[in-house]
Order: sequence, then structure tokens, then C-alpha cells
Amino acid sequence: MNDDSTDRSLRARQVRRRLRDVEITLEFLRSSYIGAPRGEQRHWVTNRAVDELVEQLHHLDLVAPDFVGSDTRRAISPGAWEKSDATYVDGQLLIEDQQVMQDWEIPLMRRMAEVVTASHGDVLEIGFGLGLSAGFIEDCGVRSHTIVELNDRVAEVARDWAATRPHADIEVVSGHWQEQVPRLGLYDGVFWDAFPTSEQEFDEFVLRDSTVAEAFFPAAASRLRPGGVFTYYTNERDSLSRRHQRSLLRYFSSFAVEVVDGLAPPPDCEYWWTDSMCVVTAVK
Ligand SMILES: C[S@@+](CC[C@H](N)C(=O)[O-])C[C@H]1O[C@@H](n2cnc3c(N)ncnc32)[C@H](O)[C@@H]1O
Repeated sequence: MNDDSTDRSLRARQVRRRLRDVEITLEFLRSSYIGAPRGEQRHWVTNRAVDELVEQLHHLDLVAPDFVGSDTRRAISPGAWEKSDATYVDGQLLIEDQQVMQDWEIPLMRRMAEVVTASHGDVLEIGFGLGLSAGFIEDCGVRSHTIVELNDRVAEVARDWAATRPHADIEVVSGHWQEQVPRLGLYDGVFWDAFPTSEQEFDEFVLRDSTVAEAFFPAAASRLRPGGVFTYYTNERDSLSRRHQRSLLRYFSSFAVEVVDGLAPPPDCEYWWTDSMCVVTAVK
């Protein structure tokens, strides 16, 4: 770490780091906060937590200048998604003025499809979008493929696409995953790539949760056979946060992480700014 100076003194109430470009002061407001039996235990774990924050800030300082410029996202109209127009244009899907899916995600979708089809069994997919992952899942070969899609027009496109593969066992289920998934059976693989469909979902799923798919974790675990795998759009660039890992381990017995790099979101991409994303394989 490029610390100009580091103040590691843990006075009773404070942890402080002074670096060249940033200063962090952590103030304990309750003396029993992180109340380990021994003072040095509290000191040790708190310093580790602050060191992690410092490392992450240094990392962001290095990579942020290379983010694509991006446009500002427009607000989603309340309650409209299901019946909204879906426009397929120039390799992207637009609904409610949102860039829902763009084809620079092809390498990511291909890798996620390989992960979810490892057993070539029954696969549940949430969100059809451009149908890229759906196509890769079929190319990998599966026993059955169930797709849940909320937008009526996209669901129609998905049914037309399924009709071009008459020998494949593909079912398109219309509706919210929140309502439809509890009614479905068990699967060997679950793939999640939905999108926030209201400002409330954007606030909860994108801004507050540890990862955009976190609200789906219990549903995914409930639909998987033992040993089945779950993969999802992670919104994580090169590693998973501790919050994210803890959330996975609440519902899955183990997970692996890999990075798909070489991604090229265009300069006006509103939903991803950088050239890599993590792919997770979570095992039930
Ligand atoms: C990012 S796209 C999926 C992209 C897809 N993986 C591909 O490769 O083209 C998200 C899709 O999820 C759908 N969706 C959003 N929220 C949903 C929900 N709650 N339940 C089901 N589908 C949803 C959207 O209408 C959209 O078609």
C-alpha cells in the first residue's frame, strides 16, 4: 500500500489511517461495539476491516479512470414493465427507456451458460432479454429449459424463438419470478439475469443489496436439487465483497468465482462501466 503515513494507534474510540490521498477515521460510538473479550482481539479485527476498505479504495482509484463515460439512467415508470414496449435495436433491448440488455455481454452470457449447463439436466432461466444466454444454454445441451419472463412482448419473442427449436424441451412462463418461481419444480441449474423493473427495485436491488441478484438467492436455493448450480449477473468487477460472500453462504454450500474479461461496454452504456465481470458458480 502507498501509505504516506499510517496511524495505527487504536485509541479506545478511534481507528485512523492517513494516506497520501485519503484519510479514514473510524469512531466507536458505543464502548462495547465489537466487544471481543480481549482488547487486542477488537484491535486486530477492526484494523483488518479498515485495511480492507483502504485496499478497496486504492483499487477503485486505479481502475475508475478507465470506466466508460456512460449516460445517466432515466427513471422507470411505476407499474409499467409487463405491458411496456420492448424495442430490439442495434444489438440491444430497450424497455421503459432502460438499456435492459446489450450484446457486448456475449462472452459473459456464454460462460454463464456453460456453468449452468454443466450437468446437462433441467435448467431454469430468469429473464429472456435478447435471448443470448438462452441460445447458449440450448447450444450446450440440456434436458429441459424453463424461462420466466415478465415483459409480454419479450415473452412473445421468446416463444417464437422456442418454436424454431421444435426438438428442444423449452417452456416460456410469463410473469414475475417472485410469483412464478415458487410454483415451479426442481432443477439442476438456475440462471438469473433479470433487471430492476421499478425505481423501488433499483433502489433495493442495485443500490442497497450486496448484489443485484441477492433477493433471488433464497428462491434459487429452493428450486435446486442437491448439488445443483446457480449462476447470475453479479455486478462485481474482479472479486466479491464480504457481504456478497456471506449472503451466498447463507443459501449455498460452496461457491467458486472466476472473472470474464475483455468485455467492451460502449461509451454510452448506462449499466456497466468496465471491462470485466465475475461469474459465480454457487452449489446447493
Ligand atoms: C438483462 S435481460 C436478460 C438478458 C439475457 N440473459 C440475454 O442473454 O439476452 C433481463 C430480462 O429480465 C426480464 N425481467 C425483469 N424483471 C423480471 C422479473 N421480475 N421476472 C421475470 N423476468 C424479469 C426483463 O423483461 C428482461 O427481458
